[in-house]
Amino acid sequence: MSVEKLFVEPGARLSARAWTRGLAPSGRVALVSEAGAWRRFGPGVEKSLKRAGLKVHRHLLPSGEAAKSWDSVSDLLTSMLAAGLGRDCAIVALGGGSVTDAAGFAAAIYQRGIPWVSVPTTLLGQLDSGLGGKTGINLAGGKNLAGCFHRPNAVVCDPEVLASLPPRERVSGFGEALKYGLVFEPGIWALITGNWDALMAGDPALTGKVVERCAAWKRRIVDSDERETKGPRELLNFGHTLGHALESASGLGALRHGEAVIWGMRAALRLSHRCSGLKASFAAEADRFLATLPVPLPRRVDPRRLLELARRDKKARGGRARFVLLRAPGRPVTAFVSDREILRAVREIL
Ligand SMILES: NC(=O)c1ccc[n+]([C@@H]2O[C@H](COP(=O)([O-])OP(=O)(O)OC[C@H]3O[C@@H](n4cnc5c(N)ncnc54)[C@H](O)[C@@H]3O)[C@@H](O)[C@H]2O)c1
Ligand SMILES: [Zn+2]
Repeated sequence: MSVEKLFVEPGARLSARAWTRGLAPSGRVALVSEAGAWRRFGPGVEKSLKRAGLKVHRHLLPSGEAAKSWDSVSDLLTSMLAAGLGRDCAIVALGGGSVTDAAGFAAAIYQRGIPWVSVPTTLLGQLDSGLGGKTGINLAGGKNLAGCFHRPNAVVCDPEVLASLPPRERVSGFGEALKYGLVFEPGIWALITGNWDALMAGDPALTGKVVERCAAWKRRIVDSDERETKGPRELLNFGHTLGHALESASGLGALRHGEAVIWGMRAALRLSHRCSGLKASFAAEADRFLATLPVPLPRRVDPRRLLELARRDKKARGGRARFVLLRAPGRPVTAFVSDREILRAVREIL
């Protein structure tokens, strides 16, 4: 698979000619979005695609996690077929992670695979979920359980679109960004924690810096381990073993993805201290910051259910839960963790 081109620039969403070059030999694209992103940015992007000489078939997915279902992907594929789109078309996905995950998955399977472009409109999307080519949907048994690796041809990160993001979506995005700080580059942690108020107020230059540094890490890691078979890509999973478990256990959509990752990182910091030698002082300091973030408390979650989900996580081996932990800031490691330690950490954070 080829590496996606990254366009990070104010107004980039309106320069479709640049990011659709050579994309669809038929000159036809499906512009896939959902109501929230469409209302704000859809008409502008559609106009820009048309100015680039493309014929556009528009399709809206349901908003949020509901986009990531068999039914909504099936509706999209059926509408593309009805519109006469062949293998020589492409998909342009405009929206948050739920749109890019579902539309990217549709691109991976439509007529055995067509090219696509990701235009992420959330902070989480721009610094993480919109790039790397993991596409997919949820099953009743949990999140992201069906999908394909299918990298987009281009990722278009336009900082202008982030101005309208509600605070909760910002927290969710910076939650995921803080992970990059803990696992790969302590400077990202310092940049975010030292400028939290400005970032929450939407400072475009600082936000752009965070997006660029995290996106660069994501690309570097994905390039070295595209299909998560060699090790490095697993490291992006710090905070996600229990994060995903919490997301599933509290009902899809109740916690934003990055919010769940913040809870998951609080547990992973404790486990890192107990199981992989992270200094107590660092674990406590990082946890103190995470504890100040305005993240809703997951309701009605049974720690035993979280344990069960952790043991079914894709990193688990032979029914034993495996976690990404830290030996030190910027020095990740994977390790098996006992049920007792998992339950203890979960009970401490909830
Ligand atoms: N593929 C990956 O590698 C990967 C990585 C991390 C997360 N994800 C997935 O991403 C999904 C979450 O994505 P998300 O957090 O971007 O949420 P989302 O796509 O559900 O969007 C959240 C909300 O934000 C609104 N919105 C979108 N852009 C907006 C804007 N610019 N201004 C105002 N509102 C806007 C939407 O209408 C929606 O209501 C999860 O399903 C998660 O599993 C995937
Ligand atoms: Zn994530």
